[in-house]
Amino acid sequence: MAFNFFANPHLHFGPGTIKCLPELITSHGKTLLLITGARSLQKSDHWPRLLDALKKNSIRVYQTVVKTEPSPSLIDEIVLRYREQSIDVIAAIGGGSVMDAGKAVSAMMTKQESVIEYLEDVGTRSHDGKKIPFIAVPTTSGTGSEATKNAVISQLGKNGFKKSLLHDNFVPDIAIVDPELTLDCPPEITAACGMDALTQLLESLVSTNSSPMTDSLALGALEILGDALITATTKHPHDMAARKKLSYASYISGLTLANAGLGVVHGFASVIGGAFSIPHGVICGTLLSEVTRYNIESLISLDSNGPAIKKYARASRLLSPSPVLENHVESSRHLVKILAQWTYQLKMPGLGSYGVTLEDIDTIVESTGQKNNPIQLSAKKLSKILQARL
Ligand SMILES: [Fe+2]
Repeated sequence: MAFNFFANPHLHFGPGTIKCLPELITSHGKTLLLITGARSLQKSDHWPRLLDALKKNSIRVYQTVVKTEPSPSLIDEIVLRYREQSIDVIAAIGGGSVMDAGKAVSAMMTKQESVIEYLEDVGTRSHDGKKIPFIAVPTTSGTGSEATKNAVISQLGKNGFKKSLLHDNFVPDIAIVDPELTLDCPPEITAACGMDALTQLLESLVSTNSSPMTDSLALGALEILGDALITATTKHPHDMAARKKLSYASYISGLTLANAGLGVVHGFASVIGGAFSIPHGVICGTLLSEVTRYNIESLISLDSNGPAIKKYARASRLLSPSPVLENHVESSRHLVKILAQWTYQLKMPGLGSYGVTLEDIDTIVESTGQKNNPIQLSAKKLSKILQARL
């Protein structure tokens, strides 16, 4: 057994932990670049309280808003605007796009070139990991960016891409995971983000690069998650117990993906997300049950007692304790039923509603990497997965 494990040096988890932010900022300095999303935080009661607390702590605040998934030009523009302001620390409060933007800006403040030169598979330079201290504060429960070492940068269009700026040092120095900040997250965003977190937990659990440490984290988070996503999305959006479970599962999914890697769902997501304007969580959420179905059936046909099937079976029992199915094969097939049911209950839209057509499928399949999927799926199977979710 041999593995590496990277995690935030500091995590503050729980309702009300946002109050720690000013004190944590001052441990790094007095000049803050604060990056937020477009709407929800500023409309909440947290916003005036936060600004007041920053003022009381004599923190000089430069603020910028990120409204879309970060593109290379957006990152370059923010870096250029604030490079001369002697920023001591950067804090990003928002969803995955906002945190990824903050992570990328903190890394690129130390460099003169465009971020595009450092993106994996796109640029030619490798980043040395030098950055400005970075604090991530999620307001959704989904991407796990608060725990990961990569920032996803997107260029949309025909030659578009979704690629990572990646270094072990880019794990945020501090993560503040306060479930109170997610209470007003709308149902469709809660659903998509929650399905992303669930995908990340399952894909890292069965990843070919998983370790006993990531397994134990992923299984523990799946047990805590249970059906909290259905509760928070379709029944009681302000149920704090469900929101805490979602926030925890999301954070852990970031840790496990950063250390074990992901599978075919995220292989599809990086290709489809670069070519079409579809939220990342929607792509993952809509494809998860079909990819899991093909993974499980392909694995069973090779070895019905293999380690990945056993893991899928355990995940199935943790997410839905009944009916009790002792057999790994039956339990893992039951997982597909649970996922298909949730996909329906959460009203995950098909890819066709965002403009993906039958004619696009071959191109998507050709470019899709399988990452650390537990089994290589044929092009024909990948094509069938997409057809089922158009
Ligand atoms: Fe994801």
